[in-house]
Amino acid sequence: MINNIFLRIILYLKRYKLFRSLGKLVINRMVYYHIATPEDAEDILQHFPYKKGPEKNKTKEQLTQELKDSKDKEFFFMAKTNGRIIGKSAITLYPKRENPNHWAFSSFYVYQEYRGLGIGEKLLRLALKKAEESGATEIVLSVFDHLKPAIHLYRKVGFKHVSSHRRDDENHSLVHIYVYRPLE
Ligand SMILES: CC(C)(COP(=O)(O)OP(=O)(O)OC[C@H]1O[C@@H](n2cnc3c(N)ncnc32)[C@H](O)[C@@H]1OP(=O)(O)O)[C@@H](O)C(=O)NCCC(=O)NCCS
Repeated sequence: MINNIFLRIILYLKRYKLFRSLGKLVINRMVYYHIATPEDAEDILQHFPYKKGPEKNKTKEQLTQELKDSKDKEFFFMAKTNGRIIGKSAITLYPKRENPNHWAFSSFYVYQEYRGLGIGEKLLRLALKKAEESGATEIVLSVFDHLKPAIHLYRKVGFKHVSSHRRDDENHSLVHIYVYRPLE
């Protein structure tokens, strides 16, 4: 209850620059970061919709098994407060012939009202740390040009721009590819 009131106050005050650093400090104590286990299949189905894949009605049990099978090859990160998921990210191993330790970062999202409090940066750094511990020598991602806060964070933690291309759809949006190499 008290936690909830505190949270509401922080989310209200974060619009004022002066209070943002204080908000970051306080929220740090109220948010915890979690690497999903197969027991979190339900949360993953809800918050990582692509996991449903072409099989629209994938059950919790099917996904639980899939998560067990992909152990050490895919990790889902969740930021939670008061039992609710407020942010997420994922890393997946995509071995290449020339680099078996090639990973991809994806599903990066912080729910709107919680943005600007450092949760995204934490989720990103947590994913990079886990990828490095898992032997990643290269972590790639793609990002639309208009997602400025995300691009800012990618650069901030050390991602380097590789290339850009226009998506071949009716929007022709500009997409950037970035790479992070822990050993560089
Ligand atoms: C990207 C995202 C996850 C960041 O989450 P967050 O919790 O707000 O992140 P943080 O609070 O840790 O950091 C936000 C950073 O963006 C910066 N930022 C905010 N608006 C910005 C803008 N218009 N241009 C550049 N940087 C901006 C902030 O200053 C802050 O950087 P700083 O800590 O160095 O000052 C969140 O904005 C989001 O969910 N966006 C929509 C989904 C998305 O873009 N996903 C990426 C897909 S590739």
